[in-house]
Amino acid sequence: MVASYEIWGPANETNFKNNAHQAQTVDIRRLALEDLPTDIDIVVGSPPCTQFSFSNRGGGGDLADGLKDIIRFLSIVDHLKPRMWAMENVPRVAKIIEKEMKLGGALADFAHLGCVTHVVDMAEYGIPQRRRRCIAGNFDIGLLESFKPGSDAPTLGDVVKALGAEQIIDPIYGLQLERADLIDHVEEDLLSSEEVRINRANKMTHTVYNAMPFPDPMDRTVRTITATCTRVSRESIVIAAPEQDQAYRRLTLRERACLQGFPITFQFYGANYGQKLRMIGNAVPPAFSFLMGRVLQGCGAEASPSLREASRELKRPKPIPAETPPDRAGARYPANRTFKFAIPSLQLKSGVRFELDNDCSGAVVDWRVSFYFGTSKAIHSIVLDEGIRGRLSLEVSSALQKAVNPVLEQLSRFVEDADIANMQTVWTHQGPGGIRPFMLLDMLDDFGSSLMTAIEAHAEEAPKIIESIIRYQHGAAASSLPGLGKLSRNAETILAGLLVGSTVNPLLRAHAQRSLEQEFRAAG
Ligand SMILES: C[S@@+](CC[C@H](N)C(=O)[O-])C[C@H]1O[C@@H](n2cnc3c(N)ncnc32)[C@H](O)[C@@H]1O
Repeated sequence: MVASYEIWGPANETNFKNNAHQAQTVDIRRLALEDLPTDIDIVVGSPPCTQFSFSNRGGGGDLADGLKDIIRFLSIVDHLKPRMWAMENVPRVAKIIEKEMKLGGALADFAHLGCVTHVVDMAEYGIPQRRRRCIAGNFDIGLLESFKPGSDAPTLGDVVKALGAEQIIDPIYGLQLERADLIDHVEEDLLSSEEVRINRANKMTHTVYNAMPFPDPMDRTVRTITATCTRVSRESIVIAAPEQDQAYRRLTLRERACLQGFPITFQFYGANYGQKLRMIGNAVPPAFSFLMGRVLQGCGAEASPSLREASRELKRPKPIPAETPPDRAGARYPANRTFKFAIPSLQLKSGVRFELDNDCSGAVVDWRVSFYFGTSKAIHSIVLDEGIRGRLSLEVSSALQKAVNPVLEQLSRFVEDADIANMQTVWTHQGPGGIRPFMLLDMLDDFGSSLMTAIEAHAEEAPKIIESIIRYQHGAAASSLPGLGKLSRNAETILAGLLVGSTVNPLLRAHAQRSLEQEFRAAG
């Protein structure tokens, strides 16, 4: 290694201590080309993917800004004229490069570099993670593919088990360490029941994104390790803690590092847990970088040592960094903590949903059921209020009314009697209250299912009612709204949701109104 450049100090310190590379802490956008070394054979880079990643504003990042780093990297390649070069980024960048390399594109000046793009899944190269990435460069993909191992990559379960043993044997590299010598492997507090609930909901019944399993399956490679993950985020990988029933935990830093292809001897010099998390998640998996290094030197699998052979001499660097305590469960949350979860029985795929949420923008918190439909590009909502309730009463036949009214009366009684006024206090962990929002959500879910059963015998009425409600709310624009076909095909579910929402919302509003009056009285 002749030189390397990185803007973030802790990453450079980590690189230096582990690899003895003197990484320079510089902003690559400001680096003068004349300051680069000469006579270089290989250039590799991994420009930031933040602007291209779908986890950044659902893919709505600033592409032009992201391209600046790619242009910078390609300018360096163009200036140094190495024999071989390669660049890593998220899969989406493959298409962007192909498009922008064409005449008139933002990368057209680099077309002569002979760039090819490939999207690889790191799990196919022996890494225990299904990490799909775009690798671009002037290398031979055939050589890279020669490394696809005959045997499967370790699974999440293999990694957790290996790191839990007394004598630890690295599941990728075969290196050995005593348990006492393995740092960053501190199991954090188990997730609280509320955190489990949020985690489960974010994964299995997310209001917009596709469902994913909870907990993460142990018998497969793991999904993508990210640079951030809170105790409740969708990105966080959560496993069952075998000691207790229904107990779950996030992965330790060391488990994440191992799943990201770092050898167990590698140490992370971050000042806190978050910095180490970021360092691990940002990395190009070292186990994959090793293979790329061989490819860039013109060697395929046959002419290369195995990872186990190549890593035999790896030792832990010194000094060993300090342990960094993991995040704890939030003790208290801000008074305006948001709640926004879909009611599972009333949720269709692709964002059509009824959800319970809280509007914290006013003097008191307003809990309500909202209805969203349309397509991912054009989401519409319907305000479920007395107006809709009245309209539904007019549209629903007396036979159907007879079937649904007992359920709706029970639902009304439940909401009328519930301690809604203190629900936000409970949700923010600031005090006691009679009902938690997830309890209300579960009740709405149950009542939703009961209503669907009640509607079943009158299913033929449902599509007509839905159509009329949409027309009532959206007027002349109704027929051109996207996603109406889907509502019609699922009319029984939608009707159940409209009935639930328009029944409970006026009651929830009345609770909020009473709270407001009480506050005024208390303020004198
Ligand atoms: C995807 S990560 C790659 C990390 C590591 N180099 C690797 O390959 O595993 C992108 C890295 O680019 C660094 N970075 C972002 N903007 C930079 C800039 N303007 N100059 C230098 N480094 C930058 C970030 O700090 C981050 O560590």
